[in-house]
Amino acid sequence: MRKKIVVGNWKMNNTVAESVTLATDVIEALGEGFSGCDVGLAPTYLALDAVGQVLEESDIQLVAQNCHYENDGAFTGEVSARMINAIGCSYVIIGHSERRQYFGETNATVNLRIKKALTEGLKVILCVGETLAERESGVTETVISTQVREGLEGISHIGAIVIAYEPVWAIGTGKTASSAQADEVHLFIRTIIGELYGEPAFRLVRIQYGGSVKPSNAAELFAMPNIDGGLIGGASLNAEDFAAIIHAASVSYVLPRYWDSERALCPGPKIGFPLAKSAPWAAILWEIIPSRTSFLSGRPRCSFGVT
Ligand code: PGA
Repeated sequence: MRKKIVVGNWKMNNTVAESVTLATDVIEALGEGFSGCDVGLAPTYLALDAVGQVLEESDIQLVAQNCHYENDGAFTGEVSARMINAIGCSYVIIGHSERRQYFGETNATVNLRIKKALTEGLKVILCVGETLAERESGVTETVISTQVREGLEGISHIGAIVIAYEPVWAIGTGKTASSAQADEVHLFIRTIIGELYGEPAFRLVRIQYGGSVKPSNAAELFAMPNIDGGLIGGASLNAEDFAAIIHAASVSYVLPRYWDSERALCPGPKIGFPLAKSAPWAAILWEIIPSRTSFLSGRPRCSFGVT
């Protein structure tokens, strides 16, 4: 079973002082309740040091929003993977659509940045996603396939990479891909990873969804079999909202563990999701009562076939 991962991408928001306050608020809002989920915060480069100090006593990981592919040199305005590693980041986001759209990132430069980040011992969140025009003209799969294959060209260390599927038309627009729409693309990405790296990678690679994830839609998205968490922009700027999204991911991690065990009856999202949403602990009990399994079904069934 893959552990969910939820990362707050603060983008170009918050001064250093505001970032420290927000990180402190996130820790407080989370309390103890996210053991089922990896959590990260990606402030601006300027605030990495200060936010890193706030996160020191927590299990939240420090994440950078980008990195350059050289160690140092005449690259005005850039920050290298070596510097990001030295300041305490464990992950770096690479290939975000805003980098591709506004700053000329290409699959080739994304690939160079990933290689350098991995060399420096960082884990990578590789962002891919189609624009609205691309979706409407029916080339979503071609675009995603090219971004994944060219982004990962020559890279063997898939274990250090998380993929974030972020349809560009859903980022910051309030429009979310439906959970089924997103899951379909996630499965497509998973299949490409399987082709490139084999069956264990197909099962184990974590694929986050990003694009207007909110407390109100997080649980439904995270209940899908191929969605392993979220890359959260706008909603991560509010500590309460971000904590609610993380709690949704933590619950959805606990439930499928029972669903996909060989012994359990697997009702799938249709039954499990409404139960999980309204009464998560009741849903867990429902899943683990052994007599129910034998009473309702002679043999195990599971809709989480690929996890
Ligand atoms: P959003 O951004 O949640 O504000 O849509 C997501 C992202 O760009 O990572």
